[in-house]
Amino acid sequence: MIKIAPSILAADPINLERDVRRAVEAGCDWIHVDVMDAHFVPNLAYAPDTVRRLRKTFSVPLDVHLMMDHPETLLDAFLDAGASLVTVHAEIGDVSGLLRKIHEAGAAAGVALKPGTPAENAKPYLEDAELLLAMTVEPGFGGQKLDERVIRKIRELRDLGYKGEIEADGGIREDNLPELAENGLSVAVMGTALFRLEDMKTAIERLHRI
Ligand code: DX5
Ligand code: ZN
Repeated sequence: MIKIAPSILAADPINLERDVRRAVEAGCDWIHVDVMDAHFVPNLAYAPDTVRRLRKTFSVPLDVHLMMDHPETLLDAFLDAGASLVTVHAEIGDVSGLLRKIHEAGAAAGVALKPGTPAENAKPYLEDAELLLAMTVEPGFGGQKLDERVIRKIRELRDLGYKGEIEADGGIREDNLPELAENGLSVAVMGTALFRLEDMKTAIERLHRI
């Protein structure tokens, strides 16, 4: 079964608790929290306090995606706040030290690759990362179109022998998820395609059957 992680970037920022509760009651597996530093990506989103409040209010695993040039500056704060999984981008350099820190705090660690970054760049982390995140859009905004080149990269990551979770993020909809799943995806981040739905519960039931 593909795990579904709604991305709160597509939720109503004025009614975040209401929208996260809707997703949790609809049967989502994780909640995806995008953290943007206005440097690594041209956008700004979500502070450690948002994760802390979500942690206090919900028991669902919090999947924190750090789109930051210097995640080390806030890593402890996100871990203290209760992140279940913290993902950093491979493009910022050697992240093995960050993965160690995440594990020392008892959380799971992920490594993300932008669409243009080859699968090869995940090789140093295949043993240490519980999750590899293959970005299916250029990071920074929701509502973009899925980059189909990445479907092949997901296959390549599995062909490297990776047995952990492979997550894709950006432009995922019900009609393009089956092909991603066939190529080895195990977790789907979905923002716009889920939060615009009236009946999120029936949709997630269908997605879990893919
Ligand atoms: C983009 C973010 C994604 C985004 C997904 O940089 O990492 O999580 O919110 O949103 P959709 O599903 O609308 O593309
Ligand atoms: Zn994300």
